[in-house]
Amino acid sequence: MRVPEHMLAAVLGSQQEARQYFSVHKRPVPQPAEGECLIRVAAAGLNGATRKAGGYARPADSGDVLGLEVSGTVAAFGSDVDGLSIGDEVCALIPEGGYAEYCIAPARQILLKPRTVDLISAGGIMENLCTAWVSIFDACRTQPGERLLVHGGAGGLGLIAIQLAVSAGIEVIASAGSDDKCQVCLDYGAVRAINYRKEKIEIGLKEHIGVVDAILDIVGGAYLSAHIDLLSDGGRICVIGLKGGSDGTLDLGQMMRRRLTVTGSVVRSRSADDRARIVDCVHRMAWPLFEQGKLKIIVDSTFPLTEAQAAHERLESGAHIGKVLLIMNHSQ
Ligand SMILES: NC(=O)c1ccc[n+]([C@@H]2O[C@H](COP(=O)([O-])OP(=O)(O)OC[C@H]3O[C@@H](n4cnc5c(N)ncnc54)[C@H](OP(=O)(O)O)[C@@H]3O)[C@@H](O)[C@H]2O)c1
Repeated sequence: MRVPEHMLAAVLGSQQEARQYFSVHKRPVPQPAEGECLIRVAAAGLNGATRKAGGYARPADSGDVLGLEVSGTVAAFGSDVDGLSIGDEVCALIPEGGYAEYCIAPARQILLKPRTVDLISAGGIMENLCTAWVSIFDACRTQPGERLLVHGGAGGLGLIAIQLAVSAGIEVIASAGSDDKCQVCLDYGAVRAINYRKEKIEIGLKEHIGVVDAILDIVGGAYLSAHIDLLSDGGRICVIGLKGGSDGTLDLGQMMRRRLTVTGSVVRSRSADDRARIVDCVHRMAWPLFEQGKLKIIVDSTFPLTEAQAAHERLESGAHIGKVLLIMNHSQ
């Protein structure tokens, strides 16, 4: 495969309040180092995790090209890479740099894309699937037959989390911001969906839905005390987003008496070995589910790289259901 010297990338410029501004620039194509591959990107997924709003800070040493997950074809290798060939159609979890025609991925974070998912939709698999798996099964240790509350059920992460949990025999209750979004959560397997704009999560939810054993929490502080009330004895919360801020009230007495766990997870801040472990676990659990049609990537909309700004505005609007993707129209 001929690799050009330069590529187009959507570069993050100024950030004002909750808005991010992107413009497209020519950049040198990066060179893969030991243990890395160069991917000719087909699509890159947008993530709530790269939004400025919601108190979710990017690491201080981040570059100016966002993008935590891509699909595409393997274009070149560094040394010490096994099991992948030039031209393989893959999806990858990457630290940054996905909003570009080419990006670097650690080889251990690359998987051949599932046969049942087209190459563009595969751009929306890895960040959300790894986050959902690690939160539901690793951090919350959720078991078949238990009840799991998934907030933001109609977002990119939420729809994957619902399907993954349901396929493991977990009873899922979802929350979302409109009746239409609630219906989508039910369509993908939730037994109940709460429109949090009509039914307050903070007040009296236990009377409506009973207790839950685990919570996939993208809200954080604002819901913390309500979540503690909502948990069954031995219940677990995994905080993965801070839409409701990072400060809340935690009743340690209840935690003690009822053996509750509040934990958190950020996939991006884990060690390379841990990310590779998560990718391996996700591969073993989720790829058969893709094959069986039990796991689908729901694409809300696609935008060309040159319209990265519009793509982020779609994500910020909150109107999307499922994944927003950037597509590369390779210039050469
Ligand atoms: N820790 C990690 O490693 C990690 C990795 C990936 C993502 N995340 C986090 O996971 C969250 C979801 O990511 P995503 O990519 O799916 O983002 P997304 O597509 O923007 O989805 C967020 C969804 O949450 C809903 N929402 C917003 N406020 C809510 C609330 N108070 N209660 C219930 N739902 C609410 C939004 O719908 P409405 O606008 O209708 O409310 C939207 O559908 C983000 O907060 C992101 O930061 C964390």
